[in-house]
Amino acid sequence: MEVIQVLHMNGSGAGDFSYANNSLLQSKVISMTRPIAEEAINNLYCSTFPTSFTIADLGCSSGPNTLMAVSQLIKTVENSRQKLNKKPIEYQVLLNDLPGNDFNTIFKSLPNFLENLKMEIGGDVGPCLFTGVPGSFYGRLFPSKSVHFIHSSYSLHWLSKVPQGLEESKRNIYLVNASPKRVVKAYYKQFQEDFELFLKCRGEELVKGGSMVLTLLGRRSQDPTSKECCYIWELLALALNDMVSQVFFFQNYIINFPKICC
Ligand SMILES: C[S@@+](CC[C@H](N)C(=O)[O-])C[C@H]1O[C@@H](n2cnc3c(N)ncnc32)[C@H](O)[C@@H]1O
Repeated sequence: MEVIQVLHMNGSGAGDFSYANNSLLQSKVISMTRPIAEEAINNLYCSTFPTSFTIADLGCSSGPNTLMAVSQLIKTVENSRQKLNKKPIEYQVLLNDLPGNDFNTIFKSLPNFLENLKMEIGGDVGPCLFTGVPGSFYGRLFPSKSVHFIHSSYSLHWLSKVPQGLEESKRNIYLVNASPKRVVKAYYKQFQEDFELFLKCRGEELVKGGSMVLTLLGRRSQDPTSKECCYIWELLALALNDMVSQVFFFQNYIINFPKICC
């Protein structure tokens, strides 16, 4: 089964276990990078003064973070536009994620979001038109030269597929301390291929002079298996392996039980 077909964050129906209720870390990341995104979109607006401004958020997911970045970006442009006494502009907002994403919850929240946004900005705000774009960002998503500003937070470290050559990494779900060099290289190669394709596609979709702000998980250490980032996956793999061995134990027990009795 392709990653693209099955990967999705838990939708709002999952309640306490939904992404919306478990994405504080990602929300903090958006706040930390806010000054960078605001400066980039402000420079873009003030250098071209477009009358129609297209903003895309890639890997938007579903929850409070989805519209948080977009609202900050629109407010920044509006702040400059009003200060410079320019006419209201039209915003087109393209929200992208994989097809399994809970787009319905986003769409339902839009009327309230727009009302609040217009109240917070005040004055004469132009139309804000939202579109959901289901699909992988490791492929084309938008028409050529149609997007002014691309934002993506905490999404690009998801690879497009499980790298080839992980045969020596049995019982693990990511890199671990004892991973052979070949396994480390396989992940590196997959990331390089994916990121190159991502940049190629966005290069075709951005208007001339357009901008992107991409935030992805990284690490300070040279060691790809350092505890800075992948230790959590090592622990998860241990837990999964334990669960699997318990299932085997019970299956064995149940199969052998009648034989013991007779
Ligand atoms: C951890 S969430 C981050 C969501 C949101 N940007 C935030 O900051 O809270 C990562 C999102 O990236 C999406 N994603 C992963 N791979 C993707 C791909 N190839 N194309 C589009 N979205 C993808 C996932 O479905 C998920 O919703």
